[in-house]
Amino acid sequence: MSRVDCLPVLKMGTSSLWERSIEVQNIDAKDLQPLVDSMAISRHVYQGVGIAASQIGINKRVIVFGIESVNSRYPHRPLVPLTVLVNPVFEPLSDEMEEEWEGCLSIPGLRGLVPRYRDIKYAGYALDGSRIEREATGFHARIIQHECDHLDGRLYPSRIKDFTKFAFEDTLKSL
Ligand code: NI
Repeated sequence: MSRVDCLPVLKMGTSSLWERSIEVQNIDAKDLQPLVDSMAISRHVYQGVGIAASQIGINKRVIVFGIESVNSRYPHRPLVPLTVLVNPVFEPLSDEMEEEWEGCLSIPGLRGLVPRYRDIKYAGYALDGSRIEREATGFHARIIQHECDHLDGRLYPSRIKDFTKFAFEDTLKSL
C-alpha cells in the first residue's frame, strides 16, 4: 500500500474475525506503517476508540487505540493517548471485575453489558520497537481487553452474561 486507504471494517459474520491473529515476528516500522495508517484512518472514520488489525482483514497482533478528544460514541470518557501496540499482552492487577456497556465497530448499532477486569497492566511494542508498559483502570483497561480479545478471535457478545443487556443503541437511554 503506497497511500493511506480507509479499509472497510469487517462485520461480525466474517469468519476471519473469529481467528487468532499471529504475533509480529519482526517489528519493522516501514513494514507496519501502512497497516497502522489504515487502522488509524478506519478508527477515525468509524469513530471508534480502538481497532484491531483483524478488523480490517489483517490477522496480525496489532492494535490502535486512544481517546484524544471527546468521542461521539463514548462521550464523557477520560482521555487516553493515541497508541499503537504490537503484540500486546495484559494481566489483571486484581480479581475485581466491572460491567459496562461496550460496543464494537464490527457490530454496528449494538451495545452489550460486558464484565472486564477493572485494573490491569499491559505491555507491547511501539512501531520503533521500543517497549510500552502501562497500568490502566476502568474504560482504558476495558479498551485493551476488548482489543486483545479481537486478537484472540473473540468478540464481546461471547462475554455478555445477561442477554437482556444486549441491545440496539437507540433503545438505550443512557450509556
Ligand atoms: Ni471491537
